[in-house]
Amino acid sequence: MSETIKILLLENIHPTAHEMLKAEGFVVEGMSQALKGDELKKKLQGVHILGIRSKTQVTREILEAAPELLSIGCFCIGTNQVDLVTANRRGIPVFNAPFSNTRSVAELMIAEIIMLARQLGDRSREVHEGNWKKTATSCYEIRGKTLGIIGYGHIGSQLGVLAEAMGMRVIFYDIQTKLPMGNNRSCPDLDTLLAESDFVTLHVPETPQTKNMIGAAELGKMRKGSYLLNASRGTVVVLPALADALRSGHLAGAAIDVYPEEPESNGEGFQCPLRGLPNVILTPHIGGSTAEAQAAIGREVATSLLRFARFGTTTSAVNFPQVEVPRIANTHRIMNVHRNVPGVLRDINRIVSDRGANIQSQILATDPEIGYLIMDLNQDISDAVCEDMDALPTSIKTRVVF
Ligand code: NAI
Repeated sequence: MSETIKILLLENIHPTAHEMLKAEGFVVEGMSQALKGDELKKKLQGVHILGIRSKTQVTREILEAAPELLSIGCFCIGTNQVDLVTANRRGIPVFNAPFSNTRSVAELMIAEIIMLARQLGDRSREVHEGNWKKTATSCYEIRGKTLGIIGYGHIGSQLGVLAEAMGMRVIFYDIQTKLPMGNNRSCPDLDTLLAESDFVTLHVPETPQTKNMIGAAELGKMRKGSYLLNASRGTVVVLPALADALRSGHLAGAAIDVYPEEPESNGEGFQCPLRGLPNVILTPHIGGSTAEAQAAIGREVATSLLRFARFGTTTSAVNFPQVEVPRIANTHRIMNVHRNVPGVLRDINRIVSDRGANIQSQILATDPEIGYLIMDLNQDISDAVCEDMDALPTSIKTRVVF
């Protein structure tokens, strides 16, 4: 495609993304608000790439009204604001930033482990209220204590490294085999981890297996006087059971950042069975909320969009076959999205040979519905080949990228 790529960034996306995309020569328009309905449809005319955060709903209707749209960047973690299935069928890869706030969450956990061990939340509140209650009772160093990490993925393993540097002994449990970082040690099962840990922290995704993963039975298997931390997903811990374990004194404290039901916006009221319990830190889903994470999200998604616009790369797209092909000098690249039916490659190869060109490289990846092909030709006839390919009844989107 020879025309300039036009990008619309809604919802106050971080300036790093604007700068990176402009530096590539793309035309970038930014808006602070989310758009919806007809306003969004109108604004999308002529737009090739759309950047959003969580508030813009990109429905089937919106996608059908945006014929030039090539890709969508969700500058956040979640992607359920986009109709991913329709985007896939229309040849539109969707990117997000699942790991840009990993470090922010891991640092918060370190802070909370120390806060729980020293009952800092309570002491601070007492002094704010004018009560001087200096005490060392049930206050501990974290050095030498055991941290049990459930879910040793990006956050869990990063936390393991930081905790070890603070002098903690780190064990973890994961359903997949994971390489232990430093001296972290893998546990054979969840029960072993619960029985051995002074602090248990959850870093698993929301899946049918992790729903209510920590209930009364599991809390009962934790050490007396231990602590529970959850900054993963609200459905993982049964909060009434946790409240019981705290009230009975079996657990000495908890830090919770995520809840089964969370308010949609700031200022809404919030109910939770843990409110008012001693040595319980409750935070409003802020695990990943830092300036650094916002900037990193801007960089991560802008990089994915750039690589797709420039090279056709779809690695890390959430709804699309993943293809990444290194650039070969003196070649001309065409990318094609087509319906995944027999004979497409045969038709495409016939077009290329009829035009007298030679295929330098050709990579195809498919999912049940679509195929995504990146093809490098050694003659500059890409525009003509592109036109022929686009005319195939199986084609969804065809584009020359260089
Ligand atoms: P990840 O995908 O890198 O790691 C998750 C790990 O959990 C994987 O190693 C996986 O094998 C393991 N796992 C899955 N099911 C399991 C089970 N039943 N038992 C044991 N292990 C299991 O994810 P990442 O980036 O580390 O995020 C972890 C959680 O943190 C996610 O739920 C995410 O939504 C949440 N999160 C919360 C934030 C906040 O603001 N509080 C910010 C960022 C992420």
